[in-house]
Amino acid sequence: MAEPLKVVVTGAAGQIAYSLLYSVAKGDVFGYDQSLELNLLDITPMMEVLNGVVMELQDCAIPLVKKITATDDPNVAFKDVNAAFMVGAMPRKDGMERKDLLKANVKIFKAQGQAMDKVAKKTVRVVVVGNPANTNACILSRYAPSIPKENFTCLTRLDQNRAQAQIAARLGVTTDKVTNVIIWGNHSSTQFPDVAHAKVELNGQVVPVPEAVKDDNYLKNDFIKTVQQRGAAVIKARKLSSAMSAAKAACDHMHDWFVGTKGSNWVSMGVISDGSYGIKEGLMYSYPVQIKDKKWSIVQGLSINEFAREKLDATAAELDEELEAAVAECTD
Ligand code: NAI
Repeated sequence: MAEPLKVVVTGAAGQIAYSLLYSVAKGDVFGYDQSLELNLLDITPMMEVLNGVVMELQDCAIPLVKKITATDDPNVAFKDVNAAFMVGAMPRKDGMERKDLLKANVKIFKAQGQAMDKVAKKTVRVVVVGNPANTNACILSRYAPSIPKENFTCLTRLDQNRAQAQIAARLGVTTDKVTNVIIWGNHSSTQFPDVAHAKVELNGQVVPVPEAVKDDNYLKNDFIKTVQQRGAAVIKARKLSSAMSAAKAACDHMHDWFVGTKGSNWVSMGVISDGSYGIKEGLMYSYPVQIKDKKWSIVQGLSINEFAREKLDATAAELDEELEAAVAECTD
């Protein structure tokens, strides 16, 4: 068996981590023959709860798990890690302004970036889940300058999975038959779920999704709104935010990063913009990417019509504003 891979999960006492840890531990992400050392980070007041999570992980009796370390110290949690799921973040509380939320998260991701810079492997692959995920990932990377910017990403796979599931349900096929849906931009209600380049396998034939759906009005309106507001719909129904599906998406994201995408298929990931598709360089923007040898590259050359252009720019403008406000909080 290969050397154990060191994996850290932050926010490890929370609800997403509760689903995520089980999937990671049993091999869904890094392979069923890859042994693991799991580092679990949460804040000091949550250590008792975290201890309960450790007990449950032990009781799962999973042979792949060689060691579990629960801690409130980022320098311990990030030590020599190969992969990081950054789930912990300051939640929005009643009466809290957007600015205050950003400020609290800048503080968290600054401290964690500094620790990562000092003690993590320079090859660590990081997915930020905690909101505002895109901007938190930018801040993390800013404070870990010795780690390549390409190693920092944020999660928009949940949005992709939601979009794929909506199309599959509409066409009466399973989700695996729908490919190349794109989520552009921010993991927020300005995101642009785009099926202009998506394909679906119907009765053994691969056809463009717009041709199969035959309802442009639905694709431009209800479909986009449903995906954009799915998180809010889950909260309304469950009285809690998406957790099982968020954990599954984080696993899909990291799995594809380590294993690669298939053929001409792509997936959506928040990655650092290099200016592709006219998006400002340096924003953590969700793009279609293909992955080979654990390296992602943005899919180039997709046609962008006027409708899409407007949506791509609107979500970029929101990200730009968010990042500017976050950077203003960085006192260094
Ligand atoms: P939760 O509140 O159940 O758990 C969050 C955990 O993070 C708590 O145990 C908390 O103590 C911990 N935490 C807070 N500050 C920390 C710090 N500085 N270091 C380490 N741990 C810290 O929340 P849940 O449901 O697990 O969600 C976590 C985050 O994921 C939230 O920000 C949520 O908005 C976000 N999210 C993102 C999605 C995405 O698609 N990008 C989807 C769903 C949720």
